[in-house]
Amino acid sequence: MISTPQFSQHRPIMVEQVMELLSGADPTCEPFNHIIVDGTVGGGGHSSIILKALSNQGRLYCFDRDPQALDLSRTVLGDDPRIHFIHDSYSAILKYLDPESVCGILLDLGLSTDQLLPERGFSYMHDAPLDMRFDPRSKLTAYDVVNHYKVEKLREIFFHYGEEPFSPRIARRIANLRLQGALRTTSQLAETVAGVVPERFRMKTLARIFQALRIEVNGEIDHLERGIEACWQALKPGGVFAALSFQSLEDRRLKHFFAAQAKGCICPPRLPVCACGRKPTAKILTPSILRPSPKEIRINPQARSSKLRAARKLG
Ligand SMILES: C[S@@+](CC[C@H](N)C(=O)[O-])C[C@H]1O[C@@H](n2cnc3c(N)ncnc32)[C@H](O)[C@@H]1O
Repeated sequence: MISTPQFSQHRPIMVEQVMELLSGADPTCEPFNHIIVDGTVGGGGHSSIILKALSNQGRLYCFDRDPQALDLSRTVLGDDPRIHFIHDSYSAILKYLDPESVCGILLDLGLSTDQLLPERGFSYMHDAPLDMRFDPRSKLTAYDVVNHYKVEKLREIFFHYGEEPFSPRIARRIANLRLQGALRTTSQLAETVAGVVPERFRMKTLARIFQALRIEVNGEIDHLERGIEACWQALKPGGVFAALSFQSLEDRRLKHFFAAQAKGCICPPRLPVCACGRKPTAKILTPSILRPSPKEIRINPQARSSKLRAARKLG
């Protein structure tokens, strides 16, 4: 059995900007006095800052699909009656909280540094079985994807989730090699990928292929699509929804969702007066996307591809 570490190795990203956005809620729905949700608690980095701002009446709900992350965040955040830990996806938020009951929601998508343990198979730097599941109760593993998906599907995953230009040749190579026997480990996969890509691109390609597999194994885009809708429903008018993403597909989903909520009338432009009567339900708080400062990236290179968006729900 793996013992829970006492400290998180993960540095929370864009903390000041996140806190400022969450504080931009309407005075009637002040998140630090009401219910606030950390949908991806990880090592508890953002939550520990939120906890410092939380009043005695405030409640913090921490979700994570990974039981090891929850154990770690429990250790980091301590035993506090204001915190509720939930082993589930943020997309299931409405199972635990009523619609229009939450004043602040944060999602910090993807993987935490604490999950880069060799045995979990997330990293091409360590030899391990091809696993990559956030939740050990899930059925699909990276082994299944690599060894059983059709070549076209592999290519699509590498292209869409990894944005990898060499996707076709990597998918073909995997499909050919697995005819000789299953690819079982991260090292076998990394060698296969590295073997068909020019040396100068190898590190980036490996990172993209491993990211793409992780997104597929954990159904991350599906959770995000359902999760954005569910979180928005859980949000009380006046509350703020902030999300940090690291991949353009995720960022696009967030951007389009917020833009659709912020749009009022959807009548064709040729109509002289509005017939739909639709009113905007969101005010976008990040008209220009927020990025980490060069200083933050210098201190924490993991922050470099992060993008922060937020919107306030209107009454
Ligand atoms: C980047 S980390 C969060 C780090 C955290 N903000 C901190 O400062 O320590 C992302 C976390 O989200 C979790 N996660 C990914 N998808 C999830 C989902 N659909 N629901 C809940 N947690 C999820 C991962 O297991 C991981 O622990």
